[in-house]
Amino acid sequence: MKHCLTLKDYTKEDIIEIVEKAIEIKANPKKYADVLKNKTLIMLFQKTSTRTRLSFEAGMTELGGHAIFLDSRTSQFSLTDFKDEIQAVMRFGDVLMFRAKEFADVDTAASLNMIPVIDACSEKYHPCQSLGDLLTMVEHSGGLENIKKVTWLGIENNVSNTLKLVCAKLGIDIYIAAPKVHEISVDEDLDKMADETGKVHKTIDIEEAMKDTDYAHTDTWMDMEFFSAEGGPVSGGEAGKVKPEYQAEYEKRIKEFKPFQLNAEIVDKYSPKAGIMHCMPCHVGYEISRDAIDHKNSVIFDQAENRMHIQKAIILWLLEK
Ligand code: CP
Repeated sequence: MKHCLTLKDYTKEDIIEIVEKAIEIKANPKKYADVLKNKTLIMLFQKTSTRTRLSFEAGMTELGGHAIFLDSRTSQFSLTDFKDEIQAVMRFGDVLMFRAKEFADVDTAASLNMIPVIDACSEKYHPCQSLGDLLTMVEHSGGLENIKKVTWLGIENNVSNTLKLVCAKLGIDIYIAAPKVHEISVDEDLDKMADETGKVHKTIDIEEAMKDTDYAHTDTWMDMEFFSAEGGPVSGGEAGKVKPEYQAEYEKRIKEFKPFQLNAEIVDKYSPKAGIMHCMPCHVGYEISRDAIDHKNSVIFDQAENRMHIQKAIILWLLEK
């Protein structure tokens, strides 16, 4: 049985097939309106979400199927053995999408091979995001062959892991300018697989990373728990006041990561045609500036919408397999 987990087991052809399927479905919504009639997607969340929940749920509706939202905090998961509970859950659906705190739980569900399982963002991977981002880049570049260089700025994490792997498998050079790796996201096997392609370039030189890039991506390195609830987000999306107990860590992160911010200045200076991307939610003024989100090159909202088109393709592809 095929699952959508780390993408380490996916070939270049698999990835292209899923993106082409998404393009086909997006262009012909009526043709696909009933393809998942009487099919159920179970959406299990151990963490919060806006885009992932909406894109999977809306996607299932548009394919004629149904999605059930299950929050681990308001169901019985906290009271029992995970493996028992997930076995019962999977009796009720045709596909499981799972936003988990730990990939090990996603892997446990998948290893039961009852129904296809999708990692909907764990601490190590975000395959749906990477495939959706590829769809966005292909659309905006007019074809995969026109994407030569992709840049990642900020911190290496679950999102950069799968983006890096997708780029490497497709022969796209990916430049990573990140002073730090989020330790819980490290997968040495994935790193090795991506590095062996010769397509992964690590640097802390912004010019080298950004020069003539086709797309610049980033993701959060600030923790929103550092801010007082009454303070933010305020007008423009900026966070509110820093809680005194987090002041030192807040300042440390600003010093470490702010030089790697995705902003209009570095785009206009080094790659004026580069598409600006962020998986969202954006933390304005930290990993990305307001002028980058609102920049004429920003494809951030297309990127968000494309989550739905790619989820449809992933679900149909898994069910066909
Ligand atoms: N990018 C992303 O996965 O968004 P959500 O956390 O809102 O689902």
